[in-house]
Amino acid sequence: MDRAIAREQSLSRLLMTYILTGLVFMLLPGTFLGVWNLIKISSREAAESISPAWIQAHGHAQLFGWVGTFILGIGFYSIPKLRKLKPFALWEGRICWGSWTIGVIMRWFSNIDPWHWRILMPFSAVLELVAFLIFFQAVASHRPAGGTPKPWEPWILVVIAATLGLLASLLLNLGACIQLALNASSPVFPHGFDQRYLIVSTWGFLVPMVWGFSSRWLTVFMGLRPLRNAHLLVALGLNTAGVVTGFIGHFVMAAVFLLAGSGTAIAAIRFFEPSAKPAKIVNIHRSFPVFVRLAYVWLLIAGALGLWASLINEAPGIWGASRHALTVGFIAVMIFCVGQRVLPSFCGMRVLWSARLMLLMLILLITGCTLRVASEILAYQDYAKWAWNVLPVSAVIELTAVAFFAVNLLVTFARPPVVATSPLTMMTE
Ligand code: HEM
Repeated sequence: MDRAIAREQSLSRLLMTYILTGLVFMLLPGTFLGVWNLIKISSREAAESISPAWIQAHGHAQLFGWVGTFILGIGFYSIPKLRKLKPFALWEGRICWGSWTIGVIMRWFSNIDPWHWRILMPFSAVLELVAFLIFFQAVASHRPAGGTPKPWEPWILVVIAATLGLLASLLLNLGACIQLALNASSPVFPHGFDQRYLIVSTWGFLVPMVWGFSSRWLTVFMGLRPLRNAHLLVALGLNTAGVVTGFIGHFVMAAVFLLAGSGTAIAAIRFFEPSAKPAKIVNIHRSFPVFVRLAYVWLLIAGALGLWASLINEAPGIWGASRHALTVGFIAVMIFCVGQRVLPSFCGMRVLWSARLMLLMLILLITGCTLRVASEILAYQDYAKWAWNVLPVSAVIELTAVAFFAVNLLVTFARPPVVATSPLTMMTE
């Protein structure tokens, strides 16, 4: 019993290390740099006026530094428990953290300052890949802890597909970094490749990862009707078809598949049907189910904007709006909702510091995202000049929201725990 408690405490500390690291990436190399880029773009009223290396540094820090680090930490903590696997050695989690963190920092610096980038960029990609392989073998290759192995439920298949999406992103990243180091004059992915690579790392990795955990946890947290397993697998098939066709450059077909996949995933998880049970919202703000539903509306908006962008010739503003509808409207809103629901208890049975702050930050994030997506289309596409003035406002609102999210989690972690047992089964069964 004592050993089980000690293991649980070490796991919580490991998870907290990942979450704190993710928060740092989110705040400075990610959001602060994004805001800086947007303010410069707006003051010059030209999207192409800043260095693509800085834009790519921001994108990599957000996707891999923030969201990726959160996913690795939550994966280490939860997947072996949910799958009832034999525990992994904690040093594997620590080495993975070290390799991943150094890799992402090195990548950010080699984009921001070209000092020895020909060595640092490929090396950073190797470190990220090594971290992933350690993670994968730790959480995926351990045999079940006694008894008959649990069959693979559809949600786990979706998480596996997302994990393969992450592996594909890291391999593409490594290949592109080596290619740049050998042949290019600057540490910047060519625009065409970058667009296709981003489809893999957003729709191929983040989107199915959120669907997988939504199917497992949100059905319980929101009291939804039972999951439609067959629909979920169809959604995964459509999404995968969208990612593959998008990567090979058939953007219209890809957009149709991705939008259809998102609609089918929503039908599978049954977000917009009347709930079967009351939502489990103890210790968080009661608006939780509303914001989760709004996040899924943003997923559809992202898909629809992607379709619009693919149908017209020059559409940088619509592509950018689609990307941020997905990354801020869907991914960040989901992390704000589900993160504040599960992380306090996973990180040592704590209680979220402020449910009101949770509401405020979600309102700010959705407001900032709405202003950003609308004014990016109007400004970048030359539809309305006044929209250039709205973009910096949207950026500051989003920055305030993410800063509040970090503060709420940091204060929560600094406060003493309430109980000392594992929360996972209690919360999800
Ligand atoms: C919170 C405020 C944010 C601001 C102010 C911001 C700003 C920007 C700007 C100015 C660009 C350049 C392209 C464009 O204008 O559309 C960009 C690109 C990008 N952003 Fe953000 N962003 C924010 C949040 C996020 C988040 C939360 C994510 C992901 C989780 C993200 C991921 C990306 C990606 C992947 C790119 C494309 C990078 C590339 O072209 O390789 N951003 N962002």
